[in-house]
Amino acid sequence: MMPSITLTNKEQELGHLVVLASKITKIPAGVLSTAEKTFLKTQVETLKLDVISFNRLSYWVYIYFPKEEKDVPKKLEASRKAGDKIAGLLNGQKASRVAVFDAIGDPATVLAFAEGMALGSYQFLKYKSEKDKVNTLTDIELYSTALENADDPSPVTRHASPVTHHPSPVTRHASPVTRHASPVTHLNILTHAVSTCRDLINEPNSWLTAPVFASEVEKMAKDCGAQVEVLNKQKIAALKMGGLLGVNQGSHEPPTFTVMEWKPADARNTKPIVLVGKGVVYDTGGMNLKPGDSMMNMKDDMSGAAAVAATVWAIAKAKLPVYVVGLMPATDNRPGVKGMVSGDVITMHNGMTVEVLNTDAEGRLILADALSYAKKYDPALVIDLATLTGAAVRAIGKFGAVAMQSNASKELEALQKSGFGVYERLVEFPMWDEYGDQIKSDLADLKNLGPAEAGMITAGKFLEKFTSYPYIHLDIAGPAFIEKRDSYRGQGGTGFGVRLLFDFIVNFAKNNK
Ligand code: BES
Ligand code: MN
Ligand code: ZN
Repeated sequence: MMPSITLTNKEQELGHLVVLASKITKIPAGVLSTAEKTFLKTQVETLKLDVISFNRLSYWVYIYFPKEEKDVPKKLEASRKAGDKIAGLLNGQKASRVAVFDAIGDPATVLAFAEGMALGSYQFLKYKSEKDKVNTLTDIELYSTALENADDPSPVTRHASPVTHHPSPVTRHASPVTRHASPVTHLNILTHAVSTCRDLINEPNSWLTAPVFASEVEKMAKDCGAQVEVLNKQKIAALKMGGLLGVNQGSHEPPTFTVMEWKPADARNTKPIVLVGKGVVYDTGGMNLKPGDSMMNMKDDMSGAAAVAATVWAIAKAKLPVYVVGLMPATDNRPGVKGMVSGDVITMHNGMTVEVLNTDAEGRLILADALSYAKKYDPALVIDLATLTGAAVRAIGKFGAVAMQSNASKELEALQKSGFGVYERLVEFPMWDEYGDQIKSDLADLKNLGPAEAGMITAGKFLEKFTSYPYIHLDIAGPAFIEKRDSYRGQGGTGFGVRLLFDFIVNFAKNNK
C-alpha cells in the first residue's frame, strides 16, 4: 500500500518528525528547541550533510536542508530522493506516521518530498511468504502554510501549528481540522496510480494474462467512474485487427483490446486525447525466440498499457475536465504450432499488409492496429507508450524515454516540459522519411523489421504509417523496468509515464479554460 498524504493544520501529536529547512534560523522555536538547533548547527558545519537526524527517545527527527540548486527540475528531484531516503529510515524504524514540517515555504519542494516518501515506500510482496521487511509508513502529514495558501486563495484562518518538541503529556485538541486540498489530493491520486501501475508490471505472466489484464482495467474503471469496454477475440477478429491476432496466434490465451474512456460533462475538449499502450503481457519473442537472459524481464512488456490504465484512472479520480480515451491491445507473444513464422504476411486493421520478418518485433504490430482504430475518435492528439525496442535502451538507457512526433511539435514540447518537471524525461528522435524507406517490403506494403541501426526510429516510423492525426510516440523500454533499486523509482516496474501524462493533462486543462 501507498502511504496517504494529508495537508493538516491540527495540533501535532508527538511522533516522528521531518523538518524541511533552508536555514536553521528559519525553523520556528516550537518545532526545535534551542539545544537541538545548536546541535544541528555543529552537525551542519562539521559534516556538511543535507540530512541530519537525532532522536527524542522513541521518536526520530530528520532535518532536510536542500542544497542550493537554481535548476528547478533538479531541485525537485533532489527533494524526491531525500523523501525516499528518509522514508527508508522511517520504515526501518517501523514508523507508521510522520509529520513533515515545512520551514522553507515552497509548496513544490514539500510536494516533491512527500512524493518521494510515498513512492519510495512502494513494495510488491504478493509472492513473499515471509512479510518481515514490510514497509510500515501509512500516513504522511504535511504542515505547510505555504501549501495551504497555494492551495486555496481564500483567507486561511488556521495556520499550521508549530510542532511541540516537549516530551511532556500531549494535549490533543478536540476537533482537529484536516483539509484535503487539490494539489495534495492530486498527489495522493497520482502516487496510488503509480503503485497500481507498478503492481500490474510486477505481476508475472503466470497470473497476468491478457484477459486478466483486461479484467483488472475493468475494476480500475469501475473504481474511478470511467467507461470501459473489453473487446474479446471475436470482436477483435470482426474488426480485422490482423496485427493483434497475428501476434496472438502462438498463444494458448486469447487477446483482449481494452477501451477506457473518461468523458466528463465539463470537458474542455470535444476531440479526445487518445492514449495507446503496448500490452504484451509476456514477450518470448515468438518463433524468433529471445535468447537466454534477454527474456528475463519480459513480463514488463505491458508497461505502456499499465501506464495508460493508471493514467486514465488518475484523471478520472481527479475529475479533470479533459476527454481522454485509453486503448490497450493485449496478448502474450509465444511460439506455438499456430504461431506466425518469419516471412508471413498479415493484413492490418487499416487494410495495409505487413511482411513479418521477425516475430520479436511484435509490439509495432499490435500498436498499429490500435493506432488505426484510434481514428474513429477523430482525436486531437494520440500518444502511445511502448516498451518497443532494445535500440531505445541502447540509445539513452533508463534515464529517459525516446520520443518521436508527427504534426505534434507543440504538444511534444509541452510533454517534454512535463517530463523535466516530474523527471520522466524525453529525448526527441527524428521522423525523417529515409527511415520510412527502410521498412518498405518487396512482398507487402511494409515489413516489421528495419536495419540494425536506429531500430527505435524505424519502429516509430512503422507506427506513424498507421496514424492520420497529431501523434507522439514514446518508447519507454529503458525506464519502464529497472533491475536495481533507484531511489523512489523502486525496483522492477517504475510506473514511468503515469506522472508524465497526468502532469501533461493537468496543464492541458489549465491552458484550455
Ligand atoms: N519488448 C521488446 C523490446 C524491449 C527490449 C523491451 C528490452 C524492454 C527491454 C520488443 O518486442 C523487441 O523484442 N524488440 C526487438 C525488435 C527487433 C526484433 C527489431 C528488439 O529491440 O530487439
Ligand atoms: Mn519482442
Ligand atoms: Zn515486445
